[in-house]
Amino acid sequence: MSHNDMHKVTLIPGDGIGPEVTDAARKIIEATGVNIEWEVVPAGAETVEKYKTVLPDITFESIKRNKVALKGPIGTPVAGGFKSANVTIRKTLDLYANLRPVRSLPGVKSKYEGINIVVVRENTEDLYSGLEYEIAPGVVESLKVITDKASLRIANFAFRFAKRRGRKKVTVLHKANIMKLSDGLFLNCVRKVAKDYSQIEYEEMIIDNACMQLILNPNRFDVILTENLYGDIVSEVCAGLVGGLGFAPGANIGDDCAVFEAAHGSAPDIAGKNIANPIAITLSGALLLKYIGENREAKAIENAISRVLTKGEILTKDMGGNATTTEMRDAIIGELK
Ligand code: NAI
Repeated sequence: MSHNDMHKVTLIPGDGIGPEVTDAARKIIEATGVNIEWEVVPAGAETVEKYKTVLPDITFESIKRNKVALKGPIGTPVAGGFKSANVTIRKTLDLYANLRPVRSLPGVKSKYEGINIVVVRENTEDLYSGLEYEIAPGVVESLKVITDKASLRIANFAFRFAKRRGRKKVTVLHKANIMKLSDGLFLNCVRKVAKDYSQIEYEEMIIDNACMQLILNPNRFDVILTENLYGDIVSEVCAGLVGGLGFAPGANIGDDCAVFEAAHGSAPDIAGKNIANPIAITLSGALLLKYIGENREAKAIENAISRVLTKGEILTKDMGGNATTTEMRDAIIGELK
C-alpha cells in the first residue's frame, strides 16, 4: 500500500473520555500524513435516547461499508439497563478475535520489564452469550456457550498470528478440570489446531495458576489464547503489568471487518477533564494502520510514543504527572516531525 492510498475509516467517539482520547488519536494519526477520510458515527448512551438502540443502523452500516473502525469506549449500565454496545458490535459483525497486545514501554512505572504478551481472546460466545434466565424466584441461570466452530476458528487465528509474527509459544488458559464439557471442548479444539504448528511451542495452563504465574513470572508468556471471560480478565491483568489501562490497545477482528479500541472503558471518574491518557487508543490506531497496510506510519507512531515516554517530561495523571490529554497529544505529534 502506498502513502497516498486513501482509506475510509469509521470513527466512533463513544462515551466518557472517548471523545477526548479518540480526538487525540485522530490528530496523531493524521500527523503521520496517512490519507484517511474519517466517517464519524454515534454509538453509546446518547444514541439509546435518540435512536432507541445502542447501535444505530448508520453506525453498523458505516463499519460494514468501510470495514475498519476506530472506536472510543462505550459505557454499559451494571445489572439491568440496555445491553452492551461493545458486545453487540462484536457479535453482530462477527468480530471473533479480540487481540490485546501489551508491551513494556520506556519510562512507564512498572515492577516488570521486557513484557511482550499478546492475549488472543474468543470474542463471540462463552458466558457473554447474554443468555440469562430466572428459572424460579431467587434462582438464575447464565448459559456458557462453547462451540467447536468458534473454538477452532479462534485457535486457528491465534496460531496463524503467532506464526506470522514469529512468536515462539502459545499458552492456552482453561478450566477444563472443572468445566469438563465446555472448556474441555475448547481445549480439544485448540489441541487439534496446535498439531498443525509444530514449530510453535504449545502449552496448557489452568486459568487460576496462570493468574499467579502472570504476577510472579510474566515474561514466561508469549501468546495467550483463551475464552471470552478469562480473556477479558487476564488482558486487564496484563495491562497492569505494563503500567495500566492507559497503555493497553486492542483490536476486534473478523473475516470482513475490524474494530480497534483501547482495553479501557469510558472512565466516568475523569471524563470531560482533559486528563485521560490518550496512548492506549493511539496505540490501537497504530494497530489499525498496520491492519490497512500502513506499517511505516504505525511504526512512526509507536516510536514517537516511546520517545515521549523516554524523555519523561510529559506525564498524564495516571502516570503520576500533571500533563493534559492535549499536551500528551501534542508531544507525540512533536516527536513525529
Ligand atoms: P474504566 O476502564 O473506564 O476505568 C477504570 C479506571 O481506570 C478508572 O479509575 C479510570 O479513571 C482509569 N482509566 C481508564 N482509562 C484511562 C485512561 N485512558 N487514562 C487514565 N485513566 C484511565 O473501567 P470501569 O470504570 O470499570 O468502566 C466504566 C465504563 O466503561 C462502564 O460503563 C463499562 O461498561 C465501560 N467499558 C467499556 C469498554 C469498551 O467500550 N470497550 C471496556 C471496559 C469498560
